[in-house]
Amino acid sequence: MTAGACDSLAPGPPPQARTLFGPAIGLAERYAGLLAGPGVERGLIGPAEAARLWDRHLINCAVVAELVPRPATLIDLGSGAGLPGIVLAMLLPDVEITLLEPMARRVVFLDECVRELGLGNVAVHRGRAEDVAGQFAADVVTARAVAPLDRLAGLALGLVRTGGLVLAIKGAGAGQEVTRATSVLRRLGARDVQVVTAGDGETGAGATVVRFTAGPAGSKAGRPGRRPRTGRTAAGNERVAGQRQGTAPGRPNRRSGSAKRAG
Ligand SMILES: C[S@@+](CC[C@H](N)C(=O)[O-])C[C@H]1O[C@@H](n2cnc3c(N)ncnc32)[C@H](O)[C@@H]1O
Repeated sequence: MTAGACDSLAPGPPPQARTLFGPAIGLAERYAGLLAGPGVERGLIGPAEAARLWDRHLINCAVVAELVPRPATLIDLGSGAGLPGIVLAMLLPDVEITLLEPMARRVVFLDECVRELGLGNVAVHRGRAEDVAGQFAADVVTARAVAPLDRLAGLALGLVRTGGLVLAIKGAGAGQEVTRATSVLRRLGARDVQVVTAGDGETGAGATVVRFTAGPAGSKAGRPGRRPRTGRTAAGNERVAGQRQGTAPGRPNRRSGSAKRAG
């Protein structure tokens, strides 16, 4: 997979993309080529998306960079073809990003993109959020188009450190989703829940984001690991969390340069 061969399949960047990406615009164009070429060929994004890659995907993700505290560790939950994780990695080289994705062919594509784009701040981890809950303690979790907010909150809170931030990129119905998820969010210990606009919503170069903070230790922070799906017990998850000793605070537990399950 080479970016150069695919460049012609992607439309050129609109002016606001050049402003948003700045010096990273070349990388963004190469990534657009990979999405429009192999990404479409392999069915990772729909053919109709190629024409609207910039406004609907790359810009929609790029504006979220302004909400990410720096430096930070960040997990992109359900990264798919790399949105928003790869876009954020281009814009935020001091943010250490893990792309978490369960589907093998998407993981292959993500690995190829990271290599082709030379993104040294990105690791790709194959897995489902609920299966690695308690094994990461990222400063920030992002997610776009992964699950309804009530379910997404439980998944994200299993990956973020106490006091860390969850940024869920949502559509126009974000406020209603928050209303519907209020009791779940409270039970899970999410605090400071807000719907914010990243970027410039008026010109369309914006994104609606549900932002919340993971509650303090001792609150009912609803880590999915505390309600195991399978035979794993809450005590078992505490043991796994204990194995993180030795990793830097707030950093995903990594071995050999990529995040690995601790247990
Ligand atoms: C609709 S796609 C969105 C992909 C990307 N975030 C985007 O905006 O284009 C949803 C992605 O979430 C992943 N996903 C679904 N459930 C997940 C889970 N429990 N843990 C991690 N990833 C999950 C899927 O495999 C898929 O790649």
